[in-house]
Amino acid sequence: MRLVIAGGHGKIALLTTGLLARRGDQVVSLVRNPSHFGDVRAAGGEPVLCDLESTTAEELAAVLGGADAALFAAGAGPGSGVARKDTVDRGAAQQFAVSALAAEVPRFVQISTTGIGRVTGDEVFDAYLRAKGAAEDGLRELALAWTILRPGRLTDDPGTGLVEVSEEPLRGSVPRADVAAVVAELLRRPDTAGRTYELVSGSTPVADAFPSTRSR
Ligand SMILES: NC(=O)c1ccc[n+]([C@@H]2O[C@H](COP(=O)([O-])OP(=O)(O)OC[C@H]3O[C@@H](n4cnc5c(N)ncnc54)[C@H](OP(=O)(O)O)[C@@H]3O)[C@@H](O)[C@H]2O)c1
Repeated sequence: MRLVIAGGHGKIALLTTGLLARRGDQVVSLVRNPSHFGDVRAAGGEPVLCDLESTTAEELAAVLGGADAALFAAGAGPGSGVARKDTVDRGAAQQFAVSALAAEVPRFVQISTTGIGRVTGDEVFDAYLRAKGAAEDGLRELALAWTILRPGRLTDDPGTGLVEVSEEPLRGSVPRADVAAVVAELLRRPDTAGRTYELVSGSTPVADAFPSTRSR
């Protein structure tokens, strides 16, 4: 499988790259800083310079051409303000998905977050939740085989391989390593297309977390 990751130097992205490279998949990682190329290569990915806030739809469609799957794992990150929540968490996600559709990529996974629809009173966090929600809504409009993954609060703890997944709201935290394992699982589970899953730590092995949607 050839996977293209938007935000390829992110923590979840690098963990996912390592897992996929070890199972023999090819990972193309879009990063905005050439000094990150070494980290991507060390994880087993092939870096491509691409700032998601200034790239064109044509450039994105070109890099996505021939991909079997695309993963949006970028984020404006802590310390960013309201404007970058919109340009990255909404705008870049939307442009990446539209470009994946133009390039006829057959599978798409988007990292979102729990808490969509909540209003906390924190201006920046609420802008983040709105941006993530708008990115989800935009993706659902596209004729892509998308799956939206909404992790809870991320930690850098070691992965446990044990999770709780639900199409209903969940609250809690989850190690980034377990998010990466779930992404790897979703990429080989096309029957999860069209679903939105919340994810926190739990007691179910990742391989059993997505019962066949055909039997539901
Ligand atoms: N933090 C939480 O508790 C939490 C909870 C639920 C969901 N999430 C979501 O989980 C996802 C990934 O989390 P993470 O911890 O892996 O994030 P991360 O380590 O902050 O990675 C995000 C990546 O996005 C990249 N990026 C930002 N703007 C970009 C641009 N214009 N062009 C190209 N790349 C750009 C960053 O690049 P640089 O390395 O160059 O900065 C960074 O590598 C995000 O979508 C986040 O919103 C987070």
